[in-house]
Amino acid sequence: MTSRAIRRDAHAKLNVFLRVLRRRRDGYHELESLVVPISLADRVTVSPADSLYVEVSGAKELAGEVPAGGLNLALVAALAIADVCERASGARIRIYKRIPVAGGLGGGSADAAATISGLNELWGCGLDDAALADIGRRVGSDVPAMLAGRPVLMRGRGDRTTPASVVRLWWALVPFDFGVRAPDAYRWWDEDEDEDEGRTGPDPAALLSAAAAGDAEALGPLLFNDLEPPVFARHPEIGRAKERALEAGALGAVMSGSGSSVAALARDEAHAKALAKAFPGAMVCSGPP
Ligand code: C5P
Repeated sequence: MTSRAIRRDAHAKLNVFLRVLRRRRDGYHELESLVVPISLADRVTVSPADSLYVEVSGAKELAGEVPAGGLNLALVAALAIADVCERASGARIRIYKRIPVAGGLGGGSADAAATISGLNELWGCGLDDAALADIGRRVGSDVPAMLAGRPVLMRGRGDRTTPASVVRLWWALVPFDFGVRAPDAYRWWDEDEDEDEGRTGPDPAALLSAAAAGDAEALGPLLFNDLEPPVFARHPEIGRAKERALEAGALGAVMSGSGSSVAALARDEAHAKALAKAFPGAMVCSGPP
């Protein structure tokens, strides 16, 4: 075990598109999604300790929402790698939160991924990327995508990833002071089954080409998320924020993951800053970082 602290930036993600294909027998949903890490990040630091524990700090309203024990995903991740690493021992895991909680930005999964990767180094486990992804898969559907540290196309439950090419894009990120729990969003998608057809979005080939070319003008109108209709029906303010972003001149706007955050696509940094001004608390970010 190394005696020094190991620090990782745990980057948030955006789902540039999220396609829900069907509900599976195990209760999860078969997905297709382009997941892109963005500049917004928590900071995760792991250092040697006698026992294994998590400390959470950051802006008061963020840190207060994240439990340090019990269901903290970073602690679950630490236990999962400890399970397969022969050299596992104690560790102090410090998380400095910047990513809104339950905002569809993958904050918890990012912290879990950074913890797995940091502890692999701290403890000298020597696990390769495939072994780390296996551990991540057991912790949460999004964790392998966050471990990849680059844009990926994710499929299956979310746990099957392949590298994707995305040129850096600028976004204004609109957070809400409430989150949407992923199980709720997917259950609402199930419940709205007989609403009408078109619950599964289009083949993403054109969107993937625009993202690979960095053609934000072409990409804007192609952004989509199949969880938007069920979530907007229960939280109309999220749908209104998307409309307002488009009215304010965003090239496109999409709810990330299961919500609540809305990402507005900009032409460049200056445009993202101008868009962010229209929303209190909005953040300018770019991705991949
Ligand atoms: O895998 P994870 O624990 O992050 O998923 C949280 C919840 O989101 C699941 O319990 C499930 O209700 C829902 N989910 C889903 N289909 C997916 C991913 C998540 O239904 N592909």
